[in-house]
Amino acid sequence: MKTQVAIIGGGPSGLLLSQLLHTVGISSIVLERKTKDYVLGRIRAGVLEQGMVNLMRRAGVSERMDAEGYVHNGTVISNADELIELNFTKLTGTPVLVYGQTEVTRDLYEAREKAGGQIEFEVEDVVIHDAKTDAPYLTYTVHGEERRIDCDYVAGCDGFHGVSRQTIPDDVRQEFEKVYPFGWLGILSETPPVHHELIYSNSPHGFALCSMRNANLSRYYVQVPLTDKVEEWSDDRFWGELKKRIPAEVAEKLVTGPSIEKSIAPLRSFVTEPMSWGRLFLCGDAAHIVPPTGAKGLNTAASDIHYLFEALKAHYLEGDDSGIEGYSEKALLRVWKAERFSWWMTNLLHRFPDQGPFDIKMQQAELNFLRDNEDAQKVLAQNYVGLPY
Ligand code: FAD
Ligand code: PHB
Repeated sequence: MKTQVAIIGGGPSGLLLSQLLHTVGISSIVLERKTKDYVLGRIRAGVLEQGMVNLMRRAGVSERMDAEGYVHNGTVISNADELIELNFTKLTGTPVLVYGQTEVTRDLYEAREKAGGQIEFEVEDVVIHDAKTDAPYLTYTVHGEERRIDCDYVAGCDGFHGVSRQTIPDDVRQEFEKVYPFGWLGILSETPPVHHELIYSNSPHGFALCSMRNANLSRYYVQVPLTDKVEEWSDDRFWGELKKRIPAEVAEKLVTGPSIEKSIAPLRSFVTEPMSWGRLFLCGDAAHIVPPTGAKGLNTAASDIHYLFEALKAHYLEGDDSGIEGYSEKALLRVWKAERFSWWMTNLLHRFPDQGPFDIKMQQAELNFLRDNEDAQKVLAQNYVGLPY
């Protein structure tokens, strides 16, 4: 097979790139290791920045998002029983949109299928060849059959555990990593959200987050030690722990019910440099991971896709290669700012095993400063709604 851009990974990054390229007549083939149902079953991000919303519109896949997404003008940060209300729209002029990653992915799959886009599922053993030449190609197998795609460019959108990043030689690739000593235990339940906005909670019992998908679907998280297993967390134990970590006036209103999904995600900050090598470009989780505290993962993947799409468009439509040459540097500049914000939010809101009384006083002072200082609120809000592309 032959295509202009071969895309490894059929998550949100790969699908969005494929759909955007289609709108300007650039061909692509997407290779996905799992089945479509598996990809759609992964419960992940819930909050979209305006930049991501705009990209979905640009890709022509925003109809359901615009109709069903929930505009959130702000969020709540709680400190034990105290509520700090942040109004993003007042502070920055921009709200965020609550619309699940599963829905984003579903909309993108539908659009790709409708347009006759080529997506190969259950591919194995993908290998990137000759990325440093003008004629790269991929080899892979599907149900035991070996295949090959010749292409102009390769987009590595295959997430943290993919093959693309590893294709960049060790002596070129630099990795920066911080692993946090806790994870997030998340549940999804068919209950009304406890509050109309998200609540990020700092409490003596640890961090908690109250989020949502729609009027009758809630998503809640509590910080847990890395050694905890999902099986050790009954629904009752989860609800009991959550109630302890959110302000009493909120806990009183919490409607509990059976969980329909429960999982533990470890927290990690990770960046690989450079984000391109020859004709291979890394996008999204293939190049960087953030702890979910700032809701930046999917949104930072989206800004990579924006830069790569614009670069490829300029190459094919105008013969201008400056975007391609500058992709890594430009993407990394924004990536590191999202890394900084996610790391800062994580430090502000979690209990760390080695935290002493002084460290807790510092967290409290920072939260009180945030409560009392509109400039501090603005800095948080600007980062949360998303820095400009
Ligand atoms: P992925 O979604 O990982 O997709 C990569 C795809 O590549 C996968 O489908 C995988 O199967 C496929 N693949 C892997 N290896 C291969 C291979 N060798 N060959 C072919 N295919 C391969 N982000 C936010 O912005 N806001 C949030 O609120 C938020 N909340 C989160 C909550 C949780 C609990 C978690 C875990 C994450 C959250 N994130 C959030 C992060 C967000 O989900 C990710 O950043 C996002 O999924 C990245 O998309 P991606 O397409 O780059 O990678
Ligand atoms: C979610 O709804 O899953 C969610 C929301 C905000 C975050 C992380 C996860 O910061």
